[in-house]
Amino acid sequence: MLAWNFLPLLASFASAGISKRSIETDVSIYAYGVGINGLLLSADQNSTAVIADNATAAANGLKNITWTIDTAGIAPWNVSIANSSAIGQFYIVPSSSEHQVVGFNTTLPDGAATTGFVIYGRTVEYATETTYESQFYARNSSTGIWSLWWNSNSTSVDDGVPVVLKTVAPVPLSVD
Ligand SMILES: *[C@@H]1O[C@H](CO)[C@@H](O)[C@H](O)[C@H]1NC(C)=O
Ligand SMILES: *[C@@H]1O[C@H](CO)[C@@H](O)[C@H](O)[C@H]1NC(C)=O
Ligand SMILES: *[C@@H]1O[C@H](CO)[C@@H](O)[C@H](O)[C@H]1NC(C)=O
Ligand SMILES: *[C@@H]1O[C@H](CO)[C@@H](O)[C@H](O)[C@H]1NC(C)=O
Ligand SMILES: *[C@@H]1O[C@H](CO)[C@@H](O)[C@H](O)[C@H]1NC(C)=O
Ligand SMILES: *[C@@H]1O[C@H](CO)[C@@H](O)[C@H](O)[C@H]1NC(C)=O
Ligand SMILES: *[C@@H]1O[C@H](CO)[C@@H](O)[C@H](O)[C@H]1NC(C)=O
Ligand SMILES: *[C@@H]1O[C@H](CO)[C@@H](O)[C@H](O)[C@H]1NC(C)=O
Repeated sequence: MLAWNFLPLLASFASAGISKRSIETDVSIYAYGVGINGLLLSADQNSTAVIADNATAAANGLKNITWTIDTAGIAPWNVSIANSSAIGQFYIVPSSSEHQVVGFNTTLPDGAATTGFVIYGRTVEYATETTYESQFYARNSSTGIWSLWWNSNSTSVDDGVPVVLKTVAPVPLSVD
């Protein structure tokens, strides 16, 4: 299992009594899927998670965010605007029978989960009691901003594409 190659190296950051926490700071997270070739995850004005290319993000006032994550899934993942205040903790709503948006709002929706997120290889997964899941998908909008959802019931939707979230940036294709 690849993840074990990384986790022990970071274990020394853990606080006493929670020996398996594995904290990383200043993390950026990128989305990959059909038509989404490694775009930064950012926050909109309502602190929901959105995906956009740099020009669209700048034109619409989306906020660049940096993450402090626990790759072992024990502590919540905290999100802050660069050089600014924290805006909240990353959440999904896995308990819902319907797909739900993903976000960082400090006011959590009913059934939201803020722990259980792990890095497996370089991919963000959600650990349940039995398995790791990645059920993120993105829905495009007329502004070219994709909203990020958790596909809780695994029913595909016509306007969505599955995405994986990774802690690695895309490799530049060319330099103009
Ligand atoms: C923020 O939420 C309000 C109220 O639900 C909504 O009217 C508005 O369109 C949202 N803004 C964005 C950028 O999604
Ligand atoms: C957070 O959620 C609340 C309640 O749904 C909403 O009123 C608010 O606009 C959201 N955004 C922020 C930034 O708190
Ligand atoms: C993103 O857009 C901003 C504003 O247009 C620009 O200053 C910046 O250089 C761009 N960054 C990249 C990586 O293209
Ligand atoms: C967000 O980050 C990207 C990539 O580092 C950068 O090009 C862009 O200018 C930043 N946008 C803002 C609003 O700081
Ligand atoms: C996020 O913030 C909470 C509350 O301050 C803290 O308990 C938790 O350890 C933090 N998570 C990480 C990954 O640092
Ligand atoms: C954040 O602050 C650091 C140190 O003061 C600075 O080097 C960096 O450029 C700042 N980043 C942004 C996005 O303002
Ligand atoms: C699954 O979620 C989708 C999107 O929210 C919804 O349209 C659909 O009715 C749900 N299906 C079931 C079986 O709950
Ligand atoms: C997303 O929507 C925008 C606006 O409708 C459109 O220009 C763009 O081509 C769409 N992107 C994809 C990958 O479908």
